[in-house]
Amino acid sequence: MKYKSSTIKSKWTKTQWLLKDSYIKKYIPITLPFNKKNLSSMLADHTTVFFKPTNGSGGNNIIRISKTAGGYQTQLNTTKRSYSTTTQLYRDLNRFAGTRPYLLQKGIRLAKSNGKPFDVRVMVQKTKQGTWTSTALFTKVGNPKKVATNYNQGGTIGTFHNTMNGAKFSSAFTPQLESDLKRLGVAVGKNFDRNYKGFKELGLDVAIDSKGKAWILEVNTRPQIYPLKALKDKSIYKKILSYGKQYGRYK
Ligand SMILES: Nc1ncnc2c1ncn2[C@@H]1O[C@H](COP(=O)(O)OP(=O)(O)O)[C@@H](O)[C@H]1O
Ligand SMILES: [Mg+2]
Repeated sequence: MKYKSSTIKSKWTKTQWLLKDSYIKKYIPITLPFNKKNLSSMLADHTTVFFKPTNGSGGNNIIRISKTAGGYQTQLNTTKRSYSTTTQLYRDLNRFAGTRPYLLQKGIRLAKSNGKPFDVRVMVQKTKQGTWTSTALFTKVGNPKKVATNYNQGGTIGTFHNTMNGAKFSSAFTPQLESDLKRLGVAVGKNFDRNYKGFKELGLDVAIDSKGKAWILEVNTRPQIYPLKALKDKSIYKKILSYGKQYGRYK
């Protein structure tokens, strides 16, 4: 397959790139490498912290840590565990990580659509002329019992407008958010070009918190689009495909 867009796996590397940009920086939740000191400081500052593999994908091996009255509760997929001290928690997380590097990220309380948490995928693609365009927005509506909204974790794909219609924001908010996210997508494209050669497409995972503020959870350099085939509205899939064909993907 003639697939020519660059790939960067490390969420840490990509986060460092984004933080160099003062406009994008406002959209990045605090993220630190996993170690005992950073675990303690993150838990002192936030009620929920996400523990994510630096090189992970598909929502796999992500643990949500929440503060409770008696200490902490973790959740991996649907499995919950309790800890009374930070030391015990650290020991278990460290054992779980093994030799894989991990990140700690401030937990965002995802907005809900008809009672289900969701996040937004912003698809950004390069035209033949070399300019970035945010070609599509869609949503991943999560299973409320899980910690990740990914399709592979039982999430379902929605259109941006349908999902936003099921959320408790004012009607004027949706078009405003749409234009903000599209502008953000283009800014991230330009940012990535300044840091590394050869990107043709990017997929931003953006959380919307319960107040409506957008947060970039990660930037995918190899965004999957096959889950979009399940959408009744085929126009989104077709549009992404038509841009993708220009750089040799999705043939
Ligand atoms: N900081 C966070 N706050 C809230 N939810 C998060 C956070 N980080 C990840 N998630 C949830 O987990 C999913 C997967 O996380 P992500 O960073 O996109 O990693 P992956 O590469 O595995 O997709 C997100 O789409 C979101 O549903
Ligand atoms: Mg993701």
